[in-house]
Amino acid sequence: MKSNMAWTLASRPLGQAEESNFRWIETALPELSDGDVLVRTLWLSLDPTNRAWMNDVDGYLPSLKLGEVMRGIAIGRVEESRSPAFAAGDIVQGMLGWQKYYAGSAKGLTKLPPIPLPLTAHFGLLGHIGLTAYFGVVEVGQAKAGETMVVTTAAGAVGSLAAQIGKILGLRVVGIAGGAEKCRWLTEDLGLDAAIDYKNEDVGAALDRECPAGIDVDFENVGGAMLDAILARINIGARIALCGLISQYNASRPVPGPYQFANLLVRRGRVQGFIVLDYLHRAGEAARQLIAWHLEGKLKYRLDIVEGLEQAPAALLKLFDGRNTGKLLVRVGEE
Ligand SMILES: NC(=O)c1ccc[n+]([C@@H]2O[C@H](COP(=O)([O-])OP(=O)(O)OC[C@H]3O[C@@H](n4cnc5c(N)ncnc54)[C@H](OP(=O)(O)O)[C@@H]3O)[C@@H](O)[C@H]2O)c1
Repeated sequence: MKSNMAWTLASRPLGQAEESNFRWIETALPELSDGDVLVRTLWLSLDPTNRAWMNDVDGYLPSLKLGEVMRGIAIGRVEESRSPAFAAGDIVQGMLGWQKYYAGSAKGLTKLPPIPLPLTAHFGLLGHIGLTAYFGVVEVGQAKAGETMVVTTAAGAVGSLAAQIGKILGLRVVGIAGGAEKCRWLTEDLGLDAAIDYKNEDVGAALDRECPAGIDVDFENVGGAMLDAILARINIGARIALCGLISQYNASRPVPGPYQFANLLVRRGRVQGFIVLDYLHRAGEAARQLIAWHLEGKLKYRLDIVEGLEQAPAALLKLFDGRNTGKLLVRVGEE
């Protein structure tokens, strides 16, 4: 019988997650029942939402229980199948968790179609990252040529795609990111109109400089003071595509709403929260467009690859202090 290595949730974090909140355990893999598959994990996606799943509060998914294998989106190869939907050798994606092997129901797993790109593009360009960026800009943000769009966490996985999609659609795009190197990447390599280094300059003054015609679309990933600086500068009919609020994921009590809320009334603005799960049924449509743009050289992505599942808890922290440069992935097993 094969043994499995996994990270379980050992305790709930207060504030920032710590490595001590996880436990590294060895378990025996169970026998498969009808409808089950055994999958060897290849790539694990680390996402800011992982931190929210550790709280004792149900969100868009139920809270994890203490002792459960840490939830995580991953790509793996089917090694054994007792499901008619999968055969050994298939490459699948789903909530395989922070573990070397997944043995359980095949429900909820998706067989990945072949693409003319490396497997990691399913996380860097497509999948939950690409869909969030694409539908957030096109459907939720209703972005139109000639408008001005601001993107927060612009040098991150979702933000960098959202910002480039804005450029492709003909908008003026201003990205906000932490540090000179990330800002240089946004303007020189991705072609954004401007980048604001929120760690080293006043965001409000920089928005006044870079958005002389005001802000029509905000692709919002941060919240807090950054969202307030943006709300203070929205145009009539602005759309706030509320994708994430990373500045408050480590908060241990509810965070007050924006101080500039009243400007939504004055400017007839719209805030719409959205979760990528709402768009899974349209994944094919987005993937075709994202791949086409990438192959035409208009849409770039970069990966931050961490070697070995053992590193996952420490690597997760990179998302919260900005040390990740691109989509954060763990290589769990060799392809
Ligand atoms: N709605 C959905 O379905 C959905 C799906 C996927 C992701 N998201 C959201 O999209 C956002 C980005 O996720 P991602 O996976 O693409 O991660 P990412 O942007 O690749 O990494 C997170 C980045 O957030 C920035 N950050 C962390 N703490 C911050 C703070 N207090 N203030 C400002 N910036 C901060 C850091 O960049 P800097 O170096 O620039 O500070 C860090 O690199 C998150 O809010 C996430 O929850 C939403």
